[in-house]
Amino acid sequence: MAVTLQHFRQWKQQQRRITALTAWDFAIAEILDQAQVDLILVGDSLAMTVLGHATTLPVTLEEMIHHTKAARRGIKNAFLVMDLPFLTYQESTQQAMRSAGLALKDGGANAVKLEGGYPEMVTTIAHLVQAGIPVMGHIGLTPQSVNQLGFKQQGKTEDAQTKILNEAIALEQAGVFAIVLEHIPTDLAQTITQKIAIPTIGIGAGPHCDGQILVTSDLLGMGSWSPPFSKAYANLRETMRDAFETYCKEVRSGEFPE
Ligand code: KIV
Repeated sequence: MAVTLQHFRQWKQQQRRITALTAWDFAIAEILDQAQVDLILVGDSLAMTVLGHATTLPVTLEEMIHHTKAARRGIKNAFLVMDLPFLTYQESTQQAMRSAGLALKDGGANAVKLEGGYPEMVTTIAHLVQAGIPVMGHIGLTPQSVNQLGFKQQGKTEDAQTKILNEAIALEQAGVFAIVLEHIPTDLAQTITQKIAIPTIGIGAGPHCDGQILVTSDLLGMGSWSPPFSKAYANLRETMRDAFETYCKEVRSGEFPE
């Protein structure tokens, strides 16, 4: 069954938990799709996990579209979302419209995700939604603001919690279909989840969100580092290194090819 925009609100009402993971190429997207992951995000985290940058800031719109096109070819059913990278939407509504338009027209994404809340992003999001572009919000720890926030948990003080809750409400009113809540306290995520009618998708935000997302390379244990709130369901880094070493050994010894 192909996942559509309407499913997300419906699943929240039915209390059916939403699964989301990131993809960066055809092979990963095809496997995630076959595993019936609901939402596949071509996240700008690929700047770090795939392209080797220290933060998400350097990845370009062209690079994001390139990876999104590849992921699109692997997907039959999942809902495909592309992250708008740093400074491809913050400048003006027109800039956001152009970037989001390319994500859908060239990349083949079903929706875009962008970081930030009230008041800076609300008008932009409302315009995108009115133009027929589904938008996913992202608040709490927003990695594109790493130079202001670091990679630390957000929403620690009462004021900060009120701000994040108000952002979630404003984003819902602006028309986002779901909101990623990254690295905020569990009880704040629970309050937001109860207060809004659209799904919350948590990462490092505890078990009360309507869905969960992880960076797939963290889930697979591919990287040399992953955030403490992540969970590795495999150790592919070791599995791959073992396979590469065995291959090298067999080629050098003449054991392969037979
Ligand atoms: O870029 C990304 O992978 C993300 C997830 C962490 C939600 O935004």
